[in-house]
Amino acid sequence: MFVLALCASVLASAPVEARAAQIASALTPSERLQLVRGQSGAPVRGGTPNGAIGSAGYVPGIPRLGVPALQETDASLGIANPGNVRRRDVATALPSGLSLASTWDPQIAYQDGSTIGDEAWRKGFNVLLGPGLNLARDPRNGRNFEYLGEDPLLAGTLAGAAICGIQDHHVIATMKHFAMNDQETGRFLLSADIGEAAMRESDLLAFELALEGGHPGAVMCAYNRVNGIYACENDHLLNDVLKDAWAFPGWVMSDWGAVHGVDAALHGLDQESNAEIDKAIRGVSAFGAPLEAAVASGAIPQSRLIDMNRRILRSMLAVGLFDEPSKRSPIDYSAHAVVALDAAERGIVVLKNAGTLPLSRSISRIAVIGGYADAGVLSGGGSSEVMPVGRALGVPLGGDDAPIAFFDRSPPLAAIRAIAPRAAVSFIDGRYPSEAAELAKHVDVAVVFATEWIGEGIDAPSLNLPNGQDALISAVAAANPHTVVVLETGNPVTMPWLDRVAAVMEAWYPGERGGDAIANLLFGKVDATGRLPITFPSAQEQLVHPELPGLDELLSARAAGFRGYQLALALLPFSVTYSDGSDVGYRRFVKQGLTPLFAFGHGLSYTTFRYGDFILEGGETLKASFKITNAGLRAGTETAQLYLTRKLGVPEMRLLGWNQVTLAPGQTRSVRVVADPRLLADFDASQNVWRIRAGLYEASLGSASDALRFRAAVPVAAQALRP
Ligand code: BGC
Repeated sequence: MFVLALCASVLASAPVEARAAQIASALTPSERLQLVRGQSGAPVRGGTPNGAIGSAGYVPGIPRLGVPALQETDASLGIANPGNVRRRDVATALPSGLSLASTWDPQIAYQDGSTIGDEAWRKGFNVLLGPGLNLARDPRNGRNFEYLGEDPLLAGTLAGAAICGIQDHHVIATMKHFAMNDQETGRFLLSADIGEAAMRESDLLAFELALEGGHPGAVMCAYNRVNGIYACENDHLLNDVLKDAWAFPGWVMSDWGAVHGVDAALHGLDQESNAEIDKAIRGVSAFGAPLEAAVASGAIPQSRLIDMNRRILRSMLAVGLFDEPSKRSPIDYSAHAVVALDAAERGIVVLKNAGTLPLSRSISRIAVIGGYADAGVLSGGGSSEVMPVGRALGVPLGGDDAPIAFFDRSPPLAAIRAIAPRAAVSFIDGRYPSEAAELAKHVDVAVVFATEWIGEGIDAPSLNLPNGQDALISAVAAANPHTVVVLETGNPVTMPWLDRVAAVMEAWYPGERGGDAIANLLFGKVDATGRLPITFPSAQEQLVHPELPGLDELLSARAAGFRGYQLALALLPFSVTYSDGSDVGYRRFVKQGLTPLFAFGHGLSYTTFRYGDFILEGGETLKASFKITNAGLRAGTETAQLYLTRKLGVPEMRLLGWNQVTLAPGQTRSVRVVADPRLLADFDASQNVWRIRAGLYEASLGSASDALRFRAAVPVAAQALRP
């Protein structure tokens, strides 16, 4: 849809394919192997590989043919600097993926991608190891903060736009982790088990849409197994689906340490990333000596190795790595900070508002409580973590893991003081609920900050806020009816105190300008535009797996002293069966009649909107047209959502599309939503087609999946669509 227009520049052309094939055929045997075996981009046992800038991955170039080295950096939320390998090299820290997904705005995704692409290019990188778009099948997944929520249309659309933004700067984007890497616990061993049609209609559909919208040069296969077979040697996923059905012309790189054997090359893997990690784990790097021997013996045809080379070269040429090589040059961090602020403001979701928000700037006494709000805003952990412009604070939050990072450029406390200069704003760290309650009694409004840190490799063990924060919020709410809760969490959390607080906003991990964004939202300097891209369950019992698979084993292994990769490998292989099929998140909640705490698509504006003149047309797909009026007294942005709610007489639930409009008070706009026909179809795995059965399809329109105001049913014609 809107995305394609932005990134036509990187579509491959016949000359690109011809040039790639020509260079591939000119490579010597050792150059062929060199191109498919990545190295660490950071020091391993004493030295950074010659020529590497310092990052997650590096593949040496071939100067005699003008082939540049691949300098690969993480990732989706800004340019990482693992272990400070490039001394004090900072980057713009953008809000989390769930924050981006809460904007429902491909333009913001494009801007984020463009910011990251620009910084990557100006730091000398030419491959970005993102975006990540695994679906949020479990709201405890430690990497959901890097991803784009639970719906394939939303995640795929936004990822496509982000890819365009990245690649418009001549930096190859890598969509990851293909596929079904939907929990971190046991990620090296688990088998994600799911039926083919269900997978194609959910997790794989997100990748399919991102591919169509963004044309990424690379795909990263995942650590886990899918239906018993490791993702990086999964012939079905890599060859049948990605390369054949979707005609992906680029290359598949492995995740770091995810290659189990040389046969992966036969099954679709084109490049082993950071081979030292595979060697450290398994004693051998599969695309080193084993690949050389397999090609020499003919076990792996030479033509396959050339195809691997050609795919890599083709993406390098298509995205402009030869013609517009990355160049170290100054970065406009101030301009990028504006992007970070805009994205953070747009991604904050006001979940509850009993009239307290927006706060008046003439309030005289405000208490700010907890959440390190005096210091900064929280960031998630792992490979995506950015060393931000400004200074990162390492705050030990307890436990035996490394300190947790806060971005200190924009502390919420300072931002609140700046926006309400006449108010007396006091701060208390919230360690003692009774002390916080005492302070709350003597102010007009108490703003409690609550945080939940998650990171790569570590799922949240439960949906509860950690570290006694529920008790803190309850105590403050009991002391002051005007209690506003600001959540900075990587995932949904439960809220046992919800009925007792006046307002709740989910700010996610809001990036380096997060404090300013939170203050601007609290005081209504901007409208509250965020809408949930993920369901907030009422209780853990509502999850597909109330007990997180593998968690007990992981905790025992940790207690026994295992750490890092050793910890991951200390578990026994196990399976996670996704019995929800393609009914991820809200789809299952609706079909099973479960009432969430907050539903997918929910989010309150500071104004109100009226819908009217809803018309639904059928035919080859569903097309809705309607009017939206801003019925309130201030400007605001509405995200009107269209869902399929009944299909051939059977209740259904899935997002068909949305339209976002910004309206002045009293203004009306006519808008349309046209559904991608695949969203009406069932995937027929035996014939590899999307099949629409003829009959009546009902669609419903509203402001959230649980706030549908209009519905209509119309006939749709039978069709079979090739992927
Ligand atoms: C992560 C990838 C990341 C890579 C390089 C892996 O552990 O799963 O997402 O791109 O490391 O840092």
